Amino acid sequence: NAENGHQLWLRFDRLEAESPVFSGINADKSKFAVKEFQQIWKEKTGKLLPVVSGQIDNQLIVGTRKDKNILSLGIDKELVRQGKEGYVIKTISKQNKTFTVVASADEKGLLYGVYHLLRILQTGEFNKALNISEKPSYSVRVLNHWDNLDGTIERGYAGRSIFWRYSEEHPTITDKDISLWREYARANASIGINGSVLNNVNASPKMLSEEYLLKVKAIASELRPYNIKVYLSINFSSPTNLGGLKTSDPLNPEVKMWWAKKVNEIYKLIPDFGGFLVKANSEGLPGPQDFGRTHADGANMLADALKPHGGIVMWRAFVYDAGKDDRAKLAYKEFMPLDGQFRDNVIIQVKNGPIDFQPREPFSPLFGAMKKTPLMPEVQITQEYLGFSNHLVFLSTMWEEFLESDTYCNGKGSTVAKTTDGTIFKQKLTAIAGVANIGLDANWCGHQFAQANWYAFGRLAWNNSLTSAKIADEWIKQTFSSDAKFVEPVKSMMLESREATVNYMMPLGLHHLFAYGHHYGPEPWCDVAGARQDWMPKYYHNASVKGIGFDRSTTGSNAVLQYFSPLKEDFNDANTCPDKYILWFHFLPWDFKMKSGRILWDELCYTYDKGVQQTREFQKNWDKAERFVDPERFTQVQNRLRIQAHDAVWWKDACLLYFQQFSKRPIPYDIERPVYK
Ligand code: GCU
Repeated sequence: NAENGHQLWLRFDRLEAESPVFSGINADKSKFAVKEFQQIWKEKTGKLLPVVSGQIDNQLIVGTRKDKNILSLGIDKELVRQGKEGYVIKTISKQNKTFTVVASADEKGLLYGVYHLLRILQTGEFNKALNISEKPSYSVRVLNHWDNLDGTIERGYAGRSIFWRYSEEHPTITDKDISLWREYARANASIGINGSVLNNVNASPKMLSEEYLLKVKAIASELRPYNIKVYLSINFSSPTNLGGLKTSDPLNPEVKMWWAKKVNEIYKLIPDFGGFLVKANSEGLPGPQDFGRTHADGANMLADALKPHGGIVMWRAFVYDAGKDDRAKLAYKEFMPLDGQFRDNVIIQVKNGPIDFQPREPFSPLFGAMKKTPLMPEVQITQEYLGFSNHLVFLSTMWEEFLESDTYCNGKGSTVAKTTDGTIFKQKLTAIAGVANIGLDANWCGHQFAQANWYAFGRLAWNNSLTSAKIADEWIKQTFSSDAKFVEPVKSMMLESREATVNYMMPLGLHHLFAYGHHYGPEPWCDVAGARQDWMPKYYHNASVKGIGFDRSTTGSNAVLQYFSPLKEDFNDANTCPDKYILWFHFLPWDFKMKSGRILWDELCYTYDKGVQQTREFQKNWDKAERFVDPERFTQVQNRLRIQAHDAVWWKDACLLYFQQFSKRPIPYDIERPVYK
C-alpha cells in the first residue's frame, strides 16, 4: 500500500512549522490520547514535545477533569457539560503566561480533543485566543461495512475487505492486518467515528460462529483504544441456519434462549461489543414476518438479549415488498403503525431517501413522523449510484441538504438533523450510519477524492450543522495543500460536484435510471423479463409520448401525503414543487412550462448538458492544480476526471436519445450534440 494513500488526511506536515507554538506538553504520559499526540508529533517533526510542568509559558496542557493539571484551572463544570466524548480547547492566560489547554471529562473526549488540536494546527486555524467547546451531535457514529466473509465487498469500489481478507484461505491474522486496522481506527477517531459494523447487512449466519467471533475479538482489540466499538450485522435465521433449531420465530422460547446464549458468548469475548445491525424481511432476507411476527417483535427479542450487556439494535427500515404500492411509500406504511412499540435500546435505521441512495431524493417521510421511536439516518458513502470510485462527487453537500431538510413535524425549523439528534424528540439513543467506501486499495477509497466522503461523514456525524464548505476546506488543507490558489478552485469543484452529477445522471427529480444489477451507467430502456417491476427504470420514469415522471401527487400514488404541511401541498402542486424534485412527484407533459420559462423537454436537455460542461470545467480546474500536488495523486485524479467527463457524455446522450423517441422534439442546437458511434 502506498504511503501517500495511507496517510489520508492525517499528514500533519505543518506541525513542524507550528512547533514553536508549544514549549512543551504538560500531561500524564500514560494516557492514550497523550501518547497518540506525542507519537504523531514525533512521526511528523522527528522529535518528541518535551514534557513540562509548572508555570512555563506556551505550554500545552492536556488532561481529564480528574487530572491535577486540569483540576486547578476551574473549568470542571464546563467539562462535565460536554459529556464523556466532548472536550474544550482554550487559551488560558495566567500571570503573563499563556497556556493552550485540551481538557475533557473523560479519556474518550480527550482523544477527540487532541485530534481537533492537530487539525487546527494543520489547517492554520490555531491561534492564541482559542475558546472551543465541542460535543457530538449523535452518540453512535457508525460505519457500516458491507464486507462479506469471503473478503469481497458489496457495492465496494476500493478493493477487498480490510477485515476479512484472510478469512478463508489464511486463517491467521498477520501484523499487516493489525497495522491496517490501527490506521483505520486512527483515521476514524480523528474525525469522531466511534463504531464499525464489520460485515455486510446481507449477513451470513456464519458471522456468529465461534471461528469468526474470534476474529471480531481481534479486530475489536485494535479498535478499542481509539474509542471504536464493533457491531455485527446478523442474519435473522441464524438460530436455524447456524444453531440447528427448527425455527427462528422471535417469540419462540428456544429461539430467545439461543440468542441470549449467543449474545453472552459474544460479550465474553468482547465486553464492550456495540450490538446488532439487522436487515430483515428486505430484499429476500429472512425476518420476523416469516413467522407472522412484526418488525417490533423481531427487534425487541434481540434488544432483550443485548440489554443486560448494554448493547443496542439498529433495525433497518429498508423494506419494500414487491408490487404492494409505490415503492417510495412502503417503509412508512410498514413502520408507522409500529411507532412506540420498540424497546429503548432499539433504533430504526432509515436511509436518507425513501427509495435507495439515488443521486437526489427528497428525505424519507419517516423522519419527523415516527415520534415515539428513535430513528437514525443511514447515508451511503460508497458511491453505488454516483459513479463508483470513478467519479469525483463530494457527497457532503447531499448529506447537508438532507440533514437541513425541514420536515415541519414540529413547525418550521424541524430539520431532519433536529429530529434525529435529540433536539426535538428527547430520545436517549441517537445515532447515524454511513455505508463505508473503504477497501484494501492503496488509497483506501479508490478515488483520492472519495476519501473526502469518509472524512465528511465523520465530521457531519460529529457535528450535523457543519457546512460542506468548511468540511471541504479542512479536508483539502489536510490532504493536499493550504495554498489558497489551490484550495479555492478545488473547493468550488468539490462543492459543485454532486449537483453536476445529478445534472448529467438524473436531473429534475428523475431516479433509478441505472443499468440493472451493477448500477454504473444509464439504462432507462432496461426491461428484464420476469424481474421485479420496481427494479426497472421504466417503473420510475414512465416516459411515453404523454410525458415523463412519477405521479406521487394526490392524482397518483399519494406519497405526498406522507409529508407534513406545508410540504405536502408544495410537493403536490407541480407549480410549487421545487424543480429538483419535480419528476419525483409529478408526471408532466413534455411541453410543461418550467420555472425557467423553458418547456420540460428543453430544460431536461439543458440540464444534462450543463452536467457535462461542469465535468469539463473540473478537468480544466484540476489541470491548473498540477504544481500543488505530487505527480502520483495528480495523475490519478486527472485520469478519473477523464473517465467522469466521458461517462457524463454517455449519460446525457443515452438518456436524451432514449427519451427523445417519446418527446419527439429536437435537442436544442446550442448544447453539445450527442455522439453517434
Ligand atoms: C441497495 C444495494 C444492495 C444493498 C441494499 C441495502 O439496494 O443495491 O446491494 O444490499 O441497498 O441497503 O440493503
